[in-house]
Amino acid sequence: MLRTISKQIYRSFGNVPNIFQTNLFPNSLLKSKNYCLTQQRYKFKRVGDRPLGQQLQILDSVYQSDEWTNVPDKVIELIGRDLYRTPGNPIYLISETLRQNYADHHCYEFTNPVVDVWSNFDSILVPEDHISRKRTDTFYVDAKHVLRAHTSAHQSCCFEKCFQDGKDGKFIVIGDVYRRDEVNRTHHAAFHQCEVVQLYQNNDSEMIKNNVNDLFDLNQPRTELCQERHNPAATKVVENEMKTKVEDYIKRLLGKNLETKWVDAYFPFTHPSWELEIKTPDGEWLEMLGCGIIEQKILDRCGQSNHIGWALGLGLERLAMLYYTIPDIRLFWTRDTGFLVQFSTLEPFERITYRPISSYPQKIFDISFWLPVSEERVNEWSPNDVHAIILDIGGEMVEQAHLVDEWKRAKDGRISNCYRIVYRSMERALTNSEVNLIHHKIEKALIDQLHVQIR
Ligand code: PHE
Repeated sequence: MLRTISKQIYRSFGNVPNIFQTNLFPNSLLKSKNYCLTQQRYKFKRVGDRPLGQQLQILDSVYQSDEWTNVPDKVIELIGRDLYRTPGNPIYLISETLRQNYADHHCYEFTNPVVDVWSNFDSILVPEDHISRKRTDTFYVDAKHVLRAHTSAHQSCCFEKCFQDGKDGKFIVIGDVYRRDEVNRTHHAAFHQCEVVQLYQNNDSEMIKNNVNDLFDLNQPRTELCQERHNPAATKVVENEMKTKVEDYIKRLLGKNLETKWVDAYFPFTHPSWELEIKTPDGEWLEMLGCGIIEQKILDRCGQSNHIGWALGLGLERLAMLYYTIPDIRLFWTRDTGFLVQFSTLEPFERITYRPISSYPQKIFDISFWLPVSEERVNEWSPNDVHAIILDIGGEMVEQAHLVDEWKRAKDGRISNCYRIVYRSMERALTNSEVNLIHHKIEKALIDQLHVQIR
């Protein structure tokens, strides 16, 4: 199963996992009279724990570690990679599909994932004793700052902004988010989310279309289906529009025949709340997003008391893994060109099936040559012939070949090309001498067949 994005922490406050059952907290210790979490911290050193007062640089800011700090260097190293803003990364491509699909929403990107504790939790009504606030679940930079655990941390600051930015109550927030978790094929400390939000006011077209005159009904009590003082009919309009729009998007991406189901959920910041599950190609139901009607208290505090609205949070890795058949969440962070090259020229809604890359190292060799002199041969010159020769001779050992440099010599107008060939086998680590042998054969074929002059 892929990361259960919201299930694990922001969801039901009622079925919080009992952290005391984990091995980190042996029974003998729990029985000791003066047991408390803070003491526990120092008894069992965890990854990310640091001596107090150590300086931590994250982007342009320096923080001092304190007893809350638990963010490891390995995680800090990921900050600033900005995969969702890096063309050629699948996470960027999926972000683009969202930017395009929600084009009438203002798109906010806060490139610094360090937020204050208030934004990540209090601003969206996460209770004081909620499991997600624990050091076991969230990366604390210090007692006052965390690495945002979800894009919902930015909701509050965007409500007002989006009206100033000319997009009446509609925005998306895309960003890297961080959670303490196991690391495996489907879980990673850092992943990406897109928050989509839309606010409505009394005479919005959608309300008029549905004959809803007033968003509010002061006599309405809080029920399972509706917040207190909301007009149930308005809530229904908001729910329908949110659900239709996001299902359309997911089906646009993953296919119109995709099976989906809405499941009731709980989040501290929305009511009512739902999750969307989809049926994966291997027949499992997979949670794709959490959403709901924004708690009115949040909007009231942000000066939007004449609006009601919906919010949803979508995990980008899951979409990308399904869209391109990428088997391991860690691949998004790789700098391996065998991975990246497969996405480098794709358009946002262009679907490919990812070809697994070898786990053995690449051997990178260049070939530089002068193109043939005779005019006739220059005229019929085609890079495709170079690629054909490279593939013919290199076969399975060639992972990639690119023209990396081309220039004209001033004195006689001769043209020089440099091709970079990346050799790699799926089965074993290639040796320099065997790659050399192949590389020379390629050179020879280029001379014999295309009449180039090796430089
Ligand atoms: N922030 C929630 C999570 O990450 C998802 C969510 C967003 C739920 C907005 C409801 C509304 O788990």
